[in-house]
Amino acid sequence: MSEYLLEVKDLCKRFPIKGGLLGREVGAVNAVNNVSFKIKKGETLGLVGESGCGKTTLGRSILRLIEPSSGQIIFDGKDITQFNADEMRAIRRRMQIIFQDPYASLNPRMTVGDILAEPMEIHGLHTNKADRQKRLLQLLDQVQLPKDALNKYPHEFSGGQRQRVCIARALAVEPEFIVCDEPVSALDVSVQAQVVNLLMDLQKDLGLTYLFIAHDLKVVEYISNRVAVMYLGNMVEVAESHELYGGSKHPYTKALFSAIPSHDPKHQQSRIILEGDIPSPMNPPTGCHFHPRCWKATEDCKKSYPIVTSSSETHQFRCHNPL
Ligand SMILES: Nc1ncnc2c1ncn2[C@@H]1O[C@H](COP(=O)(O)OP(=O)(O)OP(=O)(O)O)[C@@H](O)[C@H]1O
Ligand SMILES: [Mg+2]
Repeated sequence: MSEYLLEVKDLCKRFPIKGGLLGREVGAVNAVNNVSFKIKKGETLGLVGESGCGKTTLGRSILRLIEPSSGQIIFDGKDITQFNADEMRAIRRRMQIIFQDPYASLNPRMTVGDILAEPMEIHGLHTNKADRQKRLLQLLDQVQLPKDALNKYPHEFSGGQRQRVCIARALAVEPEFIVCDEPVSALDVSVQAQVVNLLMDLQKDLGLTYLFIAHDLKVVEYISNRVAVMYLGNMVEVAESHELYGGSKHPYTKALFSAIPSHDPKHQQSRIILEGDIPSPMNPPTGCHFHPRCWKATEDCKKSYPIVTSSSETHQFRCHNPL
């Protein structure tokens, strides 16, 4: 048995852009470009990068909620990109997703009990009425919601509680892997820590594996074992959290992380302000896509896309002139 639960190989997702009267293809967005990475069982891989760099597209493609254009997704040793609809249904029980906006992802006309029972219904789990009730109460307990939540509607809860309902719904089918797509970004700062801690406790208790997408680098550092950085559809660096926060190799990672204030004023790093805008993913720059904004760029960077380099077993990056 491999120690990896998920292995993504050369994954690409291209969105064609149609235009004109005839709806012909006038261009394309390469939202995810040859992305490869692995996640070990029980591990959290954080995924960061500016808005529009392809984090959500990558997360959804892994579950095939968006159909990948090419590449392989190997879950528990099996290439699920080849799976038919029945096989996919079975594997979806093992892979779940939690979204950013807990309100939009809950049906306002359903009680929490019905919301949590629905995935069990779909997957034929706990079909006996007494078993089902027991499982519903267990789920509420796992996400620290009171028993009477079962008969309430989403609007009767706060944002943090609603996200707990979404977490319970994901847990209802006993998944092994969860894509958490900015699960705390829409919540008050005071509530964010509670939900992050809940996710970490659940991971420990249930042996869950997470892909944790976030904007907040502090949150990512706290929850992740390893962190991957995306820029314009490409994964530019991946390393253990401590390697990345202390010693990033890619100038983009360095710039991104220089914006985090340090606890220790003596170790306050100077903030790197990137020049220029994020280029359009429809028309990315030649060579390394980051070169027009990079202070270390040379002629090579304009010409060729860098191959993957390793500085340790756990630290890989794509850069011609690493730091
Ligand atoms: N259905 C679609 N059709 C066309 N383009 C799309 C579609 N979905 C996403 N894109 C484009 O793909 C790129 C990546 O989008 P994505 O939502 O994955 O980024 P993201 O990193 O999750 O951003 P954010 O941090 O804002 O959530 C963007 O340029 C976006 O406009
Ligand atoms: Mg997103």
